[in-house]
Amino acid sequence: MLAHAIPTNAAYDFACDVRAGLARPGQKELPSKYLYDDVGSVLFEVISRLPEYGLTRADERLLRRHADEIVDRLSGPVAVTELGSGTGRKTRWLLEVLCRRQHTSYYPIEISRSALAMCERELRDIDSISILGFESEYLDGLLEVAAYRTRGQHLLVLFLGSTIGNFDRPAGVKFLAEVRRILDPGDFLLLGTDLEKSSAQLLAAYDDELGVTAAFNLNLLSRINRELDADFDLRQFAHAARINSEARCVEMHLRSKRRQIVTIPAAEIAVEFQEGETVWTESSHKYSVGEIADMARYAGYRCTAQWIDEEWPFAENLLVAE
Ligand SMILES: C[S@@+](CC[C@H](N)C(=O)[O-])C[C@H]1O[C@@H](n2cnc3c(N)ncnc32)[C@H](O)[C@@H]1O
Repeated sequence: MLAHAIPTNAAYDFACDVRAGLARPGQKELPSKYLYDDVGSVLFEVISRLPEYGLTRADERLLRRHADEIVDRLSGPVAVTELGSGTGRKTRWLLEVLCRRQHTSYYPIEISRSALAMCERELRDIDSISILGFESEYLDGLLEVAAYRTRGQHLLVLFLGSTIGNFDRPAGVKFLAEVRRILDPGDFLLLGTDLEKSSAQLLAAYDDELGVTAAFNLNLLSRINRELDADFDLRQFAHAARINSEARCVEMHLRSKRRQIVTIPAAEIAVEFQEGETVWTESSHKYSVGEIADMARYAGYRCTAQWIDEEWPFAENLLVAE
């Protein structure tokens, strides 16, 4: 695969975001996108195989069972792009079917270089595929991909794994609308959404027995140590998963086990943590089946088909840009 890195000042942005999130009054927070460095991307891949985390398997079951039907609904020649592809393991089901119909250009867009490399290794053996990865933020990558489209070609944007759930509800709709602005009428968005389920099921999924999700979360502090010269003592922080019933999401936090001060030289701050104080690192919003079509409509799409997994409530939604 050729990979294209869209130039950014990633180290500077990371330092600024860490400073803004940890020096702010009230709830400390860090953007969830920073969970995915080389170590985080590998840990996420392990999470997706844990018995407690049924989400990825549900998404994959739907793609495997309905790949023919999904591809049949894509009119004309299409190029495929994927926002936050991860390893692209599940995407194989769709791409294999589509590549039997047409030669297919596939453009994974990933903030994580190692995830992009795993994606290329995972999918390069498919017949009739060209892969060009973009190491970038979602919308920057999508703008570039849109410029590659040929006359008469539609784009199919994949946003799988319920990654949309990392946005709160208004921000999720705003993000879908921003994607829509880059698309042409008749382009497609296949959106994976995790549905509401019991608190017990969710807490187990986001705080597994083996401690892989805990390691995934704590790795963010370790990344700040590695990249920003900080002195977080990881043993003095604990992973915590919490249900936020009002927001209908699971939140991941890192809880300070004692009062402590951490210095982060590259962000030019020293941060005081009280015992029990947390840093909020990720939210995963859960949806009702009915609200997805409404979200789509507000953002400028029509939901034309929905497939639901009964084993682990999860919906695959095919949206068409209006
Ligand atoms: C929850 S994982 C999902 C991975 C895969 N799509 C799946 O369904 O298993 C989110 C992926 O999006 C990537 N990501 C997160 N924030 C991003 C951003 N702002 N721009 C581009 N990629 C991002 C991460 O590196 C990660 O691989």
